[in-house]
Formats: sequence, structure tokens, C-alpha cells
Amino acid sequence: MAPKSFSFPGIFPALLASSLALLLLSTPIIAVHDYHDALRKSILFFEGQRSGKLPPDQRVKWRRDSALRDGSTAGVDLTGGYYDAGDNIKFGFPMAFTTTLLAWSIIDFGRNMGPELKNAVKAVKWSTDYLLKATAKPGVVYVQVGDAYSDHSCWERPEDMDTLRTVYKIDNAHPGSDVAGETAAALAAASIVFRSRDPAYSRLLLNRAVRVFNFADMHRGAYSSSLHAAVCPFYCDVNGYQDELLWAAAWLHKASRKRAYREYIIKNEVVLRAGDTINEFGWDNKHAGINVLISKEVLMGRADYFESFKQNADGFICSILPGISHPQVQYSPESMWFSGGLIFKAGGSNMQHVTSLSFLLLAYSNYLSHANKAVPCGERSASPALLKQLAKRQVNYILGDNPLGMSYMVGYGSRFPQRIHHRGSSLPSVAAHPARIGCKAGSRYYLSPNPNPNLLLGAVVGGPNVSDAFPDSRPYFQESEPTTYINAPLVGLLAFFSAHP
Ligand SMILES: *[C@@H]1O[C@H](CO)[C@@H](O)[C@H](O)[C@H]1NC(C)=O
Repeated sequence: MAPKSFSFPGIFPALLASSLALLLLSTPIIAVHDYHDALRKSILFFEGQRSGKLPPDQRVKWRRDSALRDGSTAGVDLTGGYYDAGDNIKFGFPMAFTTTLLAWSIIDFGRNMGPELKNAVKAVKWSTDYLLKATAKPGVVYVQVGDAYSDHSCWERPEDMDTLRTVYKIDNAHPGSDVAGETAAALAAASIVFRSRDPAYSRLLLNRAVRVFNFADMHRGAYSSSLHAAVCPFYCDVNGYQDELLWAAAWLHKASRKRAYREYIIKNEVVLRAGDTINEFGWDNKHAGINVLISKEVLMGRADYFESFKQNADGFICSILPGISHPQVQYSPESMWFSGGLIFKAGGSNMQHVTSLSFLLLAYSNYLSHANKAVPCGERSASPALLKQLAKRQVNYILGDNPLGMSYMVGYGSRFPQRIHHRGSSLPSVAAHPARIGCKAGSRYYLSPNPNPNLLLGAVVGGPNVSDAFPDSRPYFQESEPTTYINAPLVGLLAFFSAHP
């Protein structure tokens, strides 16, 4: 018997009906979004997060050079890279994950980006230039610049920073296979982006990825043990470093096609627990991403020996579909006219889960489409079209199809967050207020009820709670803070939907 198609009680009512009904219903109801405008802004956001010396073609003009002495206390150049969120720390772990996902967005959806492709590639390079500096010395990875406690006790523009710029590193005696693994994954993924655009740079990235992966694998350990006081509770690797080793190997396999990585993946699948905690994907947990990435090759008919990864990926997809009760992924209440229905996971900054899980849904949907396959979920099956619809639903929620009727992307649509938890955005720009604003002098801007003076275009904030409430207030950082890893997978999603609205 052919598997029944999925039905979600109370969710996607139109999907229960025929595709004709879907067509009739959805056309007049769903707001038409300008996905290309959102794509342009989502990439522009990364310019607002830049650290270091800004180039002449910098488009976010209210930002200026910052942190030009980063690394000097350790005698190295660590200028550049991205601030992770609304503060002025450079955290290497989420920066590397951001880079991997930006690269994946370009690899899978770059052909849908039109004129924005070159800006997306620049956004990757801003990061990889930094990661190359951070990994220049064999056996060492610089994994953070800035002391989070010192930084978080101030509300300062990055251009004014006088907080501690402590440099943190891992080495043979203080391992960090998580952050080193993710860094290797980022370098390998980016090497694919630059393969034809800049072959010499691509080779440099790939060679470095190989070296950093070897270091991560030979000196195993969690950076949250080696550098506990610096990285916890901020980007503590709760989930362990095993997933990053497999993730790095998967990207190295894709980038290099070397047999050694295939063998590593097969040999370590069980020890490194490929199938663990599969309903999550983010800077800490790569399990779902590993399985989706590797499944592409299975679905292309090129790698039967990876079949178990596809089974894991199928299981992951089934576990996040709405209408199934599972403790880890919830959906906000669905109301009339496709309003509501946002993916929700416990913990802060929910939009990171929304964009990264949606990215996997979309990527997997494309891999399935090419193979003419669906996902078997028990007695039912989920079609590629359904996965796309679910991913699009999440993107549309972000852009304004939600109970509050607001976009969660700064500068997109007519209503969007005004008081994002972001130092640079909320303080007057250097142009408007050239005099330094000291650590505590920034507090009055933080506490002000006024909208932020500088639009951080394209920033997507942590978003509403499961009841669709959003305070739009700086102190509510879990809701109002943007992060680079919310936007990185969104870039791929928006690219696809701008080409397939
Ligand atoms: C969501 O936030 C609103 C407003 O702050 C609050 O009233 C509501 O209880 C919250 N819901 C949940 C489930 O936390």
C-alpha cells in the first residue's frame, strides 16, 4: 500500500485538502513577501557585525573600525571577524558555525541569489580571513577575543571599547575538539564556495581545514573544560565535541573527496554517536546537520555505505513535523489564515532553532526531490513539497505572517523590532556623537524607551515566546537580541524562496 500522505490536525488546514483547495485558499490569503529584499538585508546584517578595519565598500555606514588591537596581548593579529550578537565579543565557536552555515547556504542556494551572491561570498570571506588568522600557528586555535564578563558589564559601542580584550586559545595541552572541529568544518565548507571563484584561496582554506581537523581529532577534549571560565555559560559546549568531529569530517569529505574522510565517518559513526539528539541543530549540536549533509550523497545514489545516515535524517525530519507530539519541538498556536505555527524550542533565542531547522528541511527537501523520494514516517510519508511548505511557513512567520503582524527582521516590512538588544544599534553612531561614550554612560541608552537610532538592517531577533508575545525591549535579550547564527541559514532559505516564491 502506498504510504498515506501526512495530515496535521489543526495545522496547515489547507494541506489536508486537495492541492486545488490549497491553491484557491492560499493565493488570496498569504501575504506576498519580497524575499529578495529580505535576502539583501539578511546579508547586509553581517556588515553591521564586522569587527576590525572596515573596507571602503562597507555599506553599513554608521559602523566604524573597531578592536584594531585584538590579539596584541598575545603577540598575534586577531583583528577582523564578527561580533556574535548584540555584544562586542568575538566568540570563535558560534562564528565558525555561522561561517559553515553561510557557506552551506551558498553551496545549495547561491544560484538563487542573483546580484546578492557576491555579497554573500564577501560575508563568508570576512569570517574565513579571521579564521585563517586564528589558526595560523600549528597546534593552536585562538577561540575567543574579549572577556564576556567585562564586556557584558558595559553598554558600549564597539568603536569605543575599553573592556578587556583577553585572548583565549586551545592547544595540545588544552584541547577543544568542538571549536576546532567546527572551525575545520567552516574552512572546508568555505573552500567549496571559493573553489572556482578563487582557487588559491580555496586551497589555502582546505589545507588549513585538514590541519585543524587533525589537531582536533588527535587532541580530543571539550573547550568548555579547557576554558571553562571564559566560555561558559556563554557558548559552553554542553553537547560534547563528538558531533563536531564527525561534522568536520563530513565537510572535509565533501570538499576533498578523499577516501580517508569517508573511512573516518564510517569507522566513527557509532563512537561519535551520529544518531544522537537528532531534533536539534545549532552552534552546539550538529547531529541533524551531519545526517542531512551526508544523506545527500545517499540520495544521489553515490554512497550506499552511508545509508544509516539517511535513516537518521529521515527520523529527524519525522521528529520535527507538526502534528506529532514530541517533547523537544513545539509549534506556537495555529490560528486562522496561516498565522502562528512557529517552531518553538525551550531555551533562549528561539529564532536560531527556527532558521536552522527550516534550513535542514529545505535542504533535505531538495535532495529528496532530485531523487524523487519522500520521507517515510511510520505509516505515512512526508513529501519534499510538504517540507518546503513547512520551511516557507517559518520564513513567512519571520517576515510578518504572525499574530502580531510584525516582521522579526529589522528594516523589513512596515512593523519590525525597534529596541533590539544590540550595543551599536542602540547607541548614537560615531558620526552623530563623535565623543566617546563610556562603559556606564551607555546605560541611559540601554534603558531608554526610544527606538534604536541606528537600523541594523536585516538583523533577525530571538523572537516571540511560544504564546506569540514579543516585548520589543532591550533588557529582554532572549527575545530582542540578533545573532549571526540566526541569519546564516536564513540567507539560504530566503535565496531559495526568492527564486521560488
Ligand atoms: C509570553 O509572554 C507574555 C508577555 O510577556 C506572557 O504573558 C506569557 O505568559 C508568555 N507565555 C509563555 C508561555 O511564556
